[in-house]
Amino acid sequence: MKLGLFGFGCVGQGLWKVLHETKGIRADIKRICIKHPDKQRPVPGHFFTTNPLDILDDPEVDIVVELIDDAEAAFAIVSAALERGKAVVSANKKMIAHRLPELYSLQQKTGAPFLYEGACCASIPIIRNLEEYYDNDLLTSVEGIFNGTTNVILSKIFDENISFREALAYAQANGFAESDPSLDVDAFDPKFKLCILLLHAFGVFVAPEKVLNLGVGRINDFDIQFAQSRGQVIKLIARCYRESDKVGGYCIPRFVHRKHRYANVRNEYNAVTLESAFSEHQTFVGKGAGDKATGCAVLSDISALRYQYKYEYRKFSQNGTFFDITDTELKVYVRHAFEGQVDEADFISIEERYSSANARYWIGKIRLQQLQQARWLFDPEVNVVEWSGV
Ligand SMILES: NC(=O)c1ccc[n+]([C@@H]2O[C@H](COP(=O)([O-])OP(=O)(O)OC[C@H]3O[C@@H](n4cnc5c(N)ncnc54)[C@H](OP(=O)(O)O)[C@@H]3O)[C@@H](O)[C@H]2O)c1
Repeated sequence: MKLGLFGFGCVGQGLWKVLHETKGIRADIKRICIKHPDKQRPVPGHFFTTNPLDILDDPEVDIVVELIDDAEAAFAIVSAALERGKAVVSANKKMIAHRLPELYSLQQKTGAPFLYEGACCASIPIIRNLEEYYDNDLLTSVEGIFNGTTNVILSKIFDENISFREALAYAQANGFAESDPSLDVDAFDPKFKLCILLLHAFGVFVAPEKVLNLGVGRINDFDIQFAQSRGQVIKLIARCYRESDKVGGYCIPRFVHRKHRYANVRNEYNAVTLESAFSEHQTFVGKGAGDKATGCAVLSDISALRYQYKYEYRKFSQNGTFFDITDTELKVYVRHAFEGQVDEADFISIEERYSSANARYWIGKIRLQQLQQARWLFDPEVNVVEWSGV
C-alpha cells in the first residue's frame, strides 16, 4: 500500500513511528503534504510537499491519510480523495462530526472507504466495535470520559488537591492542553466524538449544535470541596442513549464516587462504557490522546483497508430512530451566587438546597431540554454538574 499523508504534527509523526516499528504491515508513506515548508522535520526533505495535488493526483497513492489540524481544509482534502476513488483515513473529529451526512453520501456515491477510528478516544477501538460486535438494537447507552486534556486537569485537582487554575496551568506547561484550551475545557471535543458515536451506535446523524456541552472551566474551590465532602470526584462525561425509538445525548461534568470505575481513569486515559440488554456494561479504558496512541488507531484503519474493510452504517439503514431529548430527565447540582440567579421554575423538583455567605447550590431534577434552554446556563457564576448518586 502506498500512503499519501496530510499533516506531520503530533499524530502524523506518531503514525510514522508506529508504521516503522510494526513489522507485517507493508505500507509505505510516499509523500507528506504540510503547510509550512520551512519547518525543521525529523525525516528527509524529499518526502514533503505543500501541493495537495502531488498526493491526490498520484495514481500510485491508494490511501490518503488526513491528519491536519484545520477542519475546513481537511474536508476539502477528504472529499477530493474520495471523489478520486481513494480510500481515506482521518482522525479529525471536528471535521467528521460537522460533515458526517456529506461524508456518508460521498462514500455511498464513490464506494471508496473512509475510516476514522482515531477520531474517537484515540487508542480505544470503539467505532469498529460498534459497527461489527454491537451490530444489533440491544445497545442502550454509550458513555464515558472522551477527553484526555480535561481528564488530566480533573485528575490533578482531585489527586493533588489543587485549584482548577493551577491544574490548567500544569496541563498547558506539560503539553496536555493548548494555549487556547477552549475546545477541550468547554467540552466541544468530547461532543464531536459523541456525535460520531451517535451514528455508529444508534444510526442517527446529529449536528453538534443540537447537543448540549458544558465544560469544566467553571469548577471552583467550593465545588471541589463539595465533591470531596461527599466522597466524589468530578469527571467530564459524554453520554448517548436510546429509549425505544428516541435517541439523546449530552456532555456534562458528573460527580462520580471515588470507588466508581471512572474515578480510576486518570490523566490522558479515556473510558468508554457500552450498555446493552444482555451483556450489561462493558468498559474500555485506554490512552485518549498522544502521538503513538492515536497513530496506532490510524495504523489499525490502514491495516483494515488491506481486506477492503468499510463502515456499513447498518444501524442507519435499519432502524427508525430519531434524536429527541424532550423526555430526558437529569439530576443536577447547580451552584450559583445569589437568589434569583437560577430559575426554580425550570426544575421538576429540588431535593436539596444550601446557602451561605459564600455560595449556594441546589440539587434537583430538570429536563435536559429545559436545561439546554435555561437563561442562566452560561452565567459565569453558575456551575452545573450531573449528580448521578453513585
Ligand atoms: N494530538 C492528539 O493526541 C490527537 C488525538 C486524536 C485525534 N487528533 C486529531 O488529529 C489531527 C491532527 O492533530 P495533531 O495533534 O497531529 O495536530 P498538529 O500537531 O497541530 O499538526 C498539524 C499538522 O497539520 C499540518 N497542516 C495544517 N494545515 C494544513 C493544510 N492546509 N495542508 C497540509 N497540512 C496542513 C501542519 O503543517 P506544518 O507542520 O507545516 O505546520 C502540521 O503538520 C487533528 O484533527 C486532531 O483533532 C489528535
